[in-house]
Amino acid sequence: MITVDEAFKKFRSRLELTDREQEDASRRHNEIRDYLRTKFDIEDDFLTGSYKRWTKTKPLKDVDIFCVLGKEERHRRDKPPAELLKAFEDALVEKYGRDKVTCQRRSVMVEFGVTTDADEDTGGKVMSIDVVPAFTTNKHYEIPDTATSSGWTETNPKVHYDLAVKAQEAYSGAWKGIVRMTKKWNSNQGKPVKPSFLIEVMALELLHPPFGGDYRLEIKAFLASLADRLDETWPEPAKLGPPVSDGMNQAARDAAKIKLRAGSDAAAKAIQLERQGKNGEALKVWRNEVFGPMFPLS
Ligand SMILES: Nc1ncnc2c1ncn2[C@@H]1O[C@H](COP(=O)(O)OP(=O)(O)OP(=O)(O)O)[C@@H](O)[C@H]1O
Ligand SMILES: [Mg+2]
Repeated sequence: MITVDEAFKKFRSRLELTDREQEDASRRHNEIRDYLRTKFDIEDDFLTGSYKRWTKTKPLKDVDIFCVLGKEERHRRDKPPAELLKAFEDALVEKYGRDKVTCQRRSVMVEFGVTTDADEDTGGKVMSIDVVPAFTTNKHYEIPDTATSSGWTETNPKVHYDLAVKAQEAYSGAWKGIVRMTKKWNSNQGKPVKPSFLIEVMALELLHPPFGGDYRLEIKAFLASLADRLDETWPEPAKLGPPVSDGMNQAARDAAKIKLRAGSDAAAKAIQLERQGKNGEALKVWRNEVFGPMFPLS
């Protein structure tokens, strides 16, 4: 039978981006870029968000593409942000069909009809892409944000990218893995923590270097500290956009705290079982009560 150590190793590698996924993301990016360039004046476009930072969990969905709009589209900045999103939505519906396209708070999502197997594997395929229309400002970007009063959010993916790189280095290369695993816990629980970017933002402060060397203990402690600190306001790390913690009201926070504490308790239980030599039972707790079907039993 596989040991818990081996299972964690396998789980970690399952959450890494594969070459095939990167090829598929790049193919989809080019396809969307080529199409949108026939519809809008687009100055630049690039893959960004957690995909670009390697903090995305699996199965691979909602890969962010930034589309930086050129001069011809500038007039759209003077109108409500929902109109810009609607224009992108309409264009994408024309190509991908009504049932594949959804307008969101800051982006338009395109789903590709990809399914997963019992281990939540997509066979190297990206399930969906979030297209984010953006304008350049002095040093940063502005994106539509239908949940804020101004309607626009300033952002700078480069700042978030650099912070993740620094944290990863300080944490002996284990920081992104812990973020990916915790995001997997979150999606397996039905996304109690919203947005999942909040997990990454909190990890910048809550995971104190050095890395202790044991993923089990790190996960148990991180889930507990997320619960302890979830009621605080978590500013956007570049200090440009609204607090990243603005996506949950008190009821949602309270529900998330209960799930986070249950997750940490399940991790403690699994650690205890393993110490008692009950390897098989420990594996099942990690899979059934913490991470879901991507955590291997063999
Ligand atoms: N409140 C905010 N202010 C400014 N920029 C933000 C804010 N929230 C998110 N962003 C930026 O937009 C990017 C895309 O947002 P998104 O919600 O898709 O997060 P993500 O990090 O890509 O996580 P996920 O894995 O859930 O896709 C983030 O990676 C971050 O760089
Ligand atoms: Mg994203």
